Amino acid sequence: MKANENNIPARTPLIETRDLKKYFKVNGGRMLHAVDSINLKLYSGETLGVVGESGCGKSTLGRTLLKLIEPTGGQILYDGQDITKLNTRKMRPLRKEMQIIFQDPYSCIDPRKSVVDTISEYMQIHKVFPNHQQTMNRAIELMDLVGLARRYANSYPHELDGGRRQRIGIARALSLNPRFIVCDEPVSALDVSIQAQILNLLMDLQDELDLAYMFVTHDLSVVKHISNHIMVMYLGTCVELAESEELFRNPLHPYTKALLAAIPEPNLDSRDKEFQIIRGEVSSPIDPKPGCRFAARCEHCMPQCTQENPKFTETSPGHYTACFLVNGNNPGGQTSDTGGETGGR
Ligand SMILES: Nc1ncnc2c1ncn2[C@@H]1O[C@H](COP(=O)(O)OP(=O)(O)OP(=O)(O)O)[C@@H](O)[C@H]1O
Ligand SMILES: [Mg+2]
Repeated sequence: MKANENNIPARTPLIETRDLKKYFKVNGGRMLHAVDSINLKLYSGETLGVVGESGCGKSTLGRTLLKLIEPTGGQILYDGQDITKLNTRKMRPLRKEMQIIFQDPYSCIDPRKSVVDTISEYMQIHKVFPNHQQTMNRAIELMDLVGLARRYANSYPHELDGGRRQRIGIARALSLNPRFIVCDEPVSALDVSIQAQILNLLMDLQDELDLAYMFVTHDLSVVKHISNHIMVMYLGTCVELAESEELFRNPLHPYTKALLAAIPEPNLDSRDKEFQIIRGEVSSPIDPKPGCRFAARCEHCMPQCTQENPKFTETSPGHYTACFLVNGNNPGGQTSDTGGETGGR
């Protein structure tokens, strides 16, 4: 552990990426750049919100971090250990510590399994307990932990509403005592009132279990209160990263500003506020040409923006942007020298 200038030992990030890339081969040998040069750090007990519109690479980033798919380039560090090249066997013990919760729990739940059997599934696969009774007891404890009444233990997923089904997904994700959870749009399919309950549950569990979350959503208003830091993605790249409050108070990238302007305002006085519409076509993520990927839709686009990649730069302490308008004439390869710091340390 390194010490900073005040001799306080710096914490090791639980998850860190350096120049992480995930490209998919598509027709004609061309490459779809789903995740391009992402630098982030995430600490235990903290949440990194990842926002951006559909197809910008949020889920691919989450799946790559968990090594459910292999990265094309760059590095992933877990608790200081480089796991980029670990094979399946070496990843196995770490798999327990890294989990994912999906938008639609139905897609990853066997409809023929009861609630308690679903929750115990991973414990059985990993043979966590020597006998069935102990596994069942732990499953019931997990039901208590996520606020699922015990009377549902022998119910089937289709008998429950969306919120309760999501609680099953959360209980199962917690069953192996993880330290890091990718929450991939876990409340997007739920009614607003249920959304708040699930978000509160996730925050309570984080406090209790010191969990690190990467919380993926296309809805900035959802992550505002639960994230320590927010990363805004556009077509595979990170265009802005800052502490949550700072991002909302002082958005710098034109894309972030447009996303924030699009959040519906509950305040009646501001109902006349004009929505800032993001115009133009989304560029293709397949073999992208050099230049800012938002350039085609940016009302501030300058000649340089279509010729060079803006460098991911620390614009003010802890606040990073990749934009020529914000950072001046500062070309680069979409990489940061310092790395996106999500811990503010
Ligand atoms: N297995 C794959 N093969 C080829 N392309 C893929 C694959 N998985 C994802 N992609 C592409 O990668 C890009 C990023 O997709 P991804 O699902 O990560 O986006 P997302 O931000 O999670 O979108 P959404 O909000 O719709 O869930 C998209 O262009 C998608 O079509
Ligand atoms: Mg997704």
